[in-house]
Amino acid sequence: MPEKSSPIIIVGAGAFGLSTALHLTQKGYSNITVFEKDNQIPARYSAANDLNKIVRAEYEDDFYTDLTVKAIEAWKSNPIFKPHFHQTGFLHCVSGTCPEKAVGTMKRFRAAAERHPKIKSHVVPLDKDSTIRHRFWQFNGQFPGWNGYLNQFDGYAHSANALAGVYRATQAAGVRFFLGEQNGAVQEILYSNGKATGVKTANGRVHHASLVIVAAGAAAGKLVSKLGTQIVAKSWSVAHVQLTDEETSALRSIPVTYARDLGFLFEPDPKTNLLKLCPMGGGFVNTDPASGVSYPPSLEQSAFLPKEDEERIRKLLAHTLPALANRPLVHKFLCWFADTSDSDFIIDYVPETSGSVILLSGDSGHGFKMFPIVGSWAGDLIESSGNQQAIPRWRWKTPAAKGSTSWGGDVSWRLGDTKELSEVQPRKAKL
Ligand SMILES: Cc1cc2nc3c(=O)[nH]c(=O)nc-3n(C[C@H](O)[C@H](O)[C@H](O)COP(=O)(O)OP(=O)(O)OC[C@H]3O[C@@H](n4cnc5c(N)ncnc54)[C@H](O)[C@@H]3O)c2cc1C
Ligand SMILES: *[C@@H]1O[C@H](CO)[C@@H](O)[C@H](O)[C@H]1NC(C)=O
Repeated sequence: MPEKSSPIIIVGAGAFGLSTALHLTQKGYSNITVFEKDNQIPARYSAANDLNKIVRAEYEDDFYTDLTVKAIEAWKSNPIFKPHFHQTGFLHCVSGTCPEKAVGTMKRFRAAAERHPKIKSHVVPLDKDSTIRHRFWQFNGQFPGWNGYLNQFDGYAHSANALAGVYRATQAAGVRFFLGEQNGAVQEILYSNGKATGVKTANGRVHHASLVIVAAGAAAGKLVSKLGTQIVAKSWSVAHVQLTDEETSALRSIPVTYARDLGFLFEPDPKTNLLKLCPMGGGFVNTDPASGVSYPPSLEQSAFLPKEDEERIRKLLAHTLPALANRPLVHKFLCWFADTSDSDFIIDYVPETSGSVILLSGDSGHGFKMFPIVGSWAGDLIESSGNQQAIPRWRWKTPAAKGSTSWGGDVSWRLGDTKELSEVQPRKAKL
């Protein structure tokens, strides 16, 4: 366990890194430095740099449901997080033409919500599209064949604003930040006799630390190469419709609306009048042919919407808000996260570093909802004995375990095949 005054470095000021900085200062650690390669927070490379993320408590697996219930308590009570949480409810459905696999997934989510003592009273079954149409008067779509449920325990968080809020809170608590491609981008972790001594940034400067916490999201493999394919940089698309003031106002308080086969949309953001859409699907990877590992590409290479995703988004709008179905889509990009084979996070010491490097990654596209509490798990790890994660599913996975599982696509909640970025990229972006 490090001394409270030991120098601790956190690489990455995304959701996991900022939450860790917050929790460690609250535990009394006084020499914390965060490195972020973007020159701003919210960082444009962060998967959480977005208008909103779903905060949905029910998981097929009660372990994560219980954690999210705790996270939602923190979203609602902690003054740092509270302004960014909106409990609009989560309309979770499948459309009439949804593949069986996803129908089963939706039903398991619903069963999880209906059996949880803290959640069940908030669940409203919606077994027919006519019931959905009747309940949500603001939508003028037909919801053809949709069925599912509404969970009023759930909602969304304004993720970019929440990142900015925690950035301010940690700065005020004395955390130092180095930002930007020169000062903030960590090029490598420095070791002496297998133990980390600090990091080197792109400008060549060395910063010493007794503990390095890698919270670099989808790019973690670049700093911890022995991760191999434990973490796969994967992306889903994001796009928006630009609304007028009146349109935004009219859609105030709509629930997060999700058809598992078409994707989801959120209540419009009152500040920008943007309505955000995510088509989901199997996602896209960017495999480096030399290593076989997928790493996130540049922002420029990610600034587009694959054609198949645009089709799904337009169908989602046609079913829910048909007046918007042919509107231009703006702010289109692929958002990169760190996927694991079983959707479990990785929160553990990196082997053979004598407890000097912690990896905090593998968010698997569902980590933002945990923003208020994820940093406490890093704190628990630091203060546990034996340099090993007490929760087996969050441990570093040895290559032996890899053969027994397969990559992401078999996880129940994923629908569709994963494709290579190069297969869907428009030609001009290929360079
Ligand atoms: C399209 C999409 C939709 C999502 N929807 C949801 C949702 O609805 N609900 C939900 O809970 N979650 C959702 N997520 C997942 C959520 O965004 C992530 O779980 C969360 O952002 C993970 O946090 P992180 O800190 O691990 O990574 P990130 O937030 O990506 O942060 C990593 C940071 O590390 C920095 N970095 C990387 N390498 C270096 C380096 N070498 N030096 C310095 N800095 C570095 C990056 O610039 C970045 O800022 C979604 C993700 C995507 C892509
Ligand atoms: C924090 O750690 C760094 C690196 O060891 C050291 O140079 C610095 O003096 C420490 N700061 C405080 C306030 O202890």
